[in-house]
Amino acid sequence: PQVNFSHGNSRVTAVLPTGDNVTILLYGATVISWKNRFGTEKLWVSDAAKLDGSKAVRGGIPLVFPVFGTSPDHAATSKLPQHGFARNSRWEFLGKSSSESAGPSDSSVKLDFGLSSATLDDSVKGQWPFTFSLIYSVTLTPESLSTSIVVTNDGDKPIEFQVLMHTYLRVDDISKIQVTGLEDSPYVDKVDAAKTKSQSGAVTITGETDRVYTPAKGPSHAVVVSEEGEEVFTVVRDNLKDVVVWNPWTEKAAGMGDFEPKDGFKQMICIEAGAVNGWTTLDAGDAFEGAQTISD
Ligand code: BG6
Repeated sequence: PQVNFSHGNSRVTAVLPTGDNVTILLYGATVISWKNRFGTEKLWVSDAAKLDGSKAVRGGIPLVFPVFGTSPDHAATSKLPQHGFARNSRWEFLGKSSSESAGPSDSSVKLDFGLSSATLDDSVKGQWPFTFSLIYSVTLTPESLSTSIVVTNDGDKPIEFQVLMHTYLRVDDISKIQVTGLEDSPYVDKVDAAKTKSQSGAVTITGETDRVYTPAKGPSHAVVVSEEGEEVFTVVRDNLKDVVVWNPWTEKAAGMGDFEPKDGFKQMICIEAGAVNGWTTLDAGDAFEGAQTISD
């Protein structure tokens, strides 16, 4: 049993012996498909998503770095576009490592991507003049998809950044889902004047939702998406303290040119693992690593 692998000019695909597979666009190192052995797509990608490098992908797993949203008051990132430059830069494919010795159901593959100040577009360098490197690894097993990022400060001054894996999970019916693991946790409610609130009980989605949670129980405690009582996704984080829960609902979806079908918000929920409440400071020479593992 072997991992099947293809690497084109614009994307990389890996297929495990079980049939589970993943596709990553070099543009943004965006995971644009994760299918299980039955061919069921686990991520939501808009029918109108641009996959040609003209705009960040609407769906899949865009990577937010080094700023979440925009931050006009934070001098170092104030010139950057919404969600930074990682999701709309072309990354380099660094290679794959697979383990397939133990039999088909134990096989896995890790795909590595890199972006650094050495390869970044000059226009972006002007907006964010730091010396850095990013390594983003996507690991597929028959049970899970993991994404991990290592940020290294190769320069001589501290870097302040935010990072977020903006995962669009595919669900059957948003009205039937519940998100647990965020109970008793503080969150910033971006649709209610950025007020800080406290979650009581499970999260259900009944309208536009845009919240930054800092889960009380810490990263290794799973955030679970259930649909009609059945667990459909489990997200475990490593060194990523925050979880954004986002659904644009009717009006926001209608306002996004690349969001199709317009009622597609009923089939998605973004559960986004990151460090976005405040800033992470990386001293010269230091590295930061954060990761998420999504099990279906
Ligand atoms: C979420 C933010 O993570 O991303 C939302 O919390 C934002 O505020 C959403 O609307 C989508 O952002 P974008 O830039 O991809 O439209």
